Amino acid sequence: MCGIVGYIGEKDCADVLISALTKLEYRGYDSAGIAVFENGKIKVEKSKGALSDLVNKMRDDESKPNGTCGIGHTRWATHGEPSDINSHPHGNKRITIVHNGIIENYKQIKEFLMSQGYAFESQTDTETVAKLLDYYYNGDPFETITKVIGEIQGSYALGILFRDFPDRIFAVRKDSPLIVGIGKGENFIASDVPAILKYTRDYYLLEHDEIAVLKKSGVKVYDIHHEEIKKELQRANWDVDAAEKGGYEHFMLKEINEQPGAVRTTISPRISDGLINFSECGLTNAMLNSFKQIHIVGCGTAMHAGIVGQYLIESLARVPVIVDIASEFRYRKPIVSENDLVIFISQSGETADTLAALRLAKKCGAKTLSIVNVKGSSIARESDMVIYTHAGPEISVASTKAYSVQLSVMYLLAFQLSLAKGKITEEGCRLLVAQLQQIPSYIEASIKLMEQCQFVSSKLVNADSLLYIGRGLDYALSMEGSLKLKELSYIHSEAYAAGELKHGTISLISDGMPVIAVATQSELFEKTISNVIEVKSRGAFVIAICKETDDIGPDVADHVIKLPELNDIFMPIVTAIPLQLIAYYTAVLKGCNVDKPRNLAKSVTVE
Ligand code: G6P
Repeated sequence: MCGIVGYIGEKDCADVLISALTKLEYRGYDSAGIAVFENGKIKVEKSKGALSDLVNKMRDDESKPNGTCGIGHTRWATHGEPSDINSHPHGNKRITIVHNGIIENYKQIKEFLMSQGYAFESQTDTETVAKLLDYYYNGDPFETITKVIGEIQGSYALGILFRDFPDRIFAVRKDSPLIVGIGKGENFIASDVPAILKYTRDYYLLEHDEIAVLKKSGVKVYDIHHEEIKKELQRANWDVDAAEKGGYEHFMLKEINEQPGAVRTTISPRISDGLINFSECGLTNAMLNSFKQIHIVGCGTAMHAGIVGQYLIESLARVPVIVDIASEFRYRKPIVSENDLVIFISQSGETADTLAALRLAKKCGAKTLSIVNVKGSSIARESDMVIYTHAGPEISVASTKAYSVQLSVMYLLAFQLSLAKGKITEEGCRLLVAQLQQIPSYIEASIKLMEQCQFVSSKLVNADSLLYIGRGLDYALSMEGSLKLKELSYIHSEAYAAGELKHGTISLISDGMPVIAVATQSELFEKTISNVIEVKSRGAFVIAICKETDDIGPDVADHVIKLPELNDIFMPIVTAIPLQLIAYYTAVLKGCNVDKPRNLAKSVTVE
């Protein structure tokens, strides 16, 4: 949800801002804009559309600001349609800002400012912050910012330029992420690490209501009482290439291909001597044994990883698990007790609903554990324990490698929980761990199914609607496959529990309608196949996904994708690959913007 950046140094500021924003476009691409000090004045350039539209506009108009200090923004519209006027930066010749977040009391502030004679150009909540800063400005930026953050409610990461201080950038945040990149003779602000990786790996994590003042020569961070805070320097271990396409046509394809490595890097630090070791996060076996109930909470793909986790934990460890969409969990008055473990899954660690759900679970006294990809993110910092996934930066809006690493942590947790609860022996656990360690090579084999997936996509490209069906773990996977396809290709699709079809959904089947049947679970295979036959005999075009040794004839399915033969519980992590590839190629064939599907953003930091 919007990305902000800032740069002060000796380089061409506009170039640095654009390059940094390119890495944040996954956060929104409704509009882009920059503000740069040029000869002591703040010069703003902004435009509706993607960052490339802004770049083209500045090239055509020869209007690129020339300077070495400035701020930039890429927008996912909340208040006010995507338009030039609603694009950031906002403000006036004196004070200009970029903002990520939502100001909840903006209407009251706007009314007050209008009563004071201020006129508004845009429909954004951000403009009220810019004008409120202007209203309070008394020549002292620090005092002004403190007054404003005392009045605004909601979430914000703000980059601020004051005309009177052309040698510095001010930044402050609450509930929206912001880092301060520390370079040599140059410093940065950014919503996320990939934006600065090309320039530096060192950064500070700005805490709530800390105010950073960036100069070329250095950065100081203060609390709201103007006391300087000594910040601990963080070091990003992601390499620069991780945020580049590396020869692939799309980030998504690159990220699909990165899955074997990402899973390996995520599981190996947690395995020692053939057994699982969670000591890094303080999750002991005694603690695991004490939990009476587990909740898993997340949004989108992360929540889907939680559903797989539910099947694994309940079947192996026999502990009841409830999975919730974070935006539902936080408002449905969930019954959570001190004996419960609540697991939060989030790639970004910043999803607003997941963060709010985490705070609620803590209030209920439950132990909280987060599974997060971004180091130092809000969810990671606020939960009692954290297990980091090591997928590296995921740029494509549709999640792929983050899902696989989340699944791999679900396996580790389910195995360890089973051991702690006495449901499996140490020997049994070793066996499962050894099988999990083999998974990356099976994922590699799955990726080789690319051409078959391309063929399937060619059959889906003209469909208006399709169904994904499966039972048990296959149903959990169907949900993710369906989400991937619809978010990328804009083809309507639904995931259904295969056994539920005859309770209504089967009426949707018409001649030639594609149905993707996932049938990898041995125990349920025959039952799923019966359901497949039911749709096939009503005219569906069936694509079946099963294990190598399974026999599905042309009377049952029009096309069969065969996956490597594995223990049933491991099938989801290899089945995810063809589902991702089918969604990817369908979107490519339809000419969709694969890495940036319309209306979506990767990091959803608003409710
Ligand atoms: C958005 C993204 C999804 C992601 C979900 C949760 O909807 O487009 O890919 O699964 O947010 O994000 P999180 O960062 O919490 O995993």
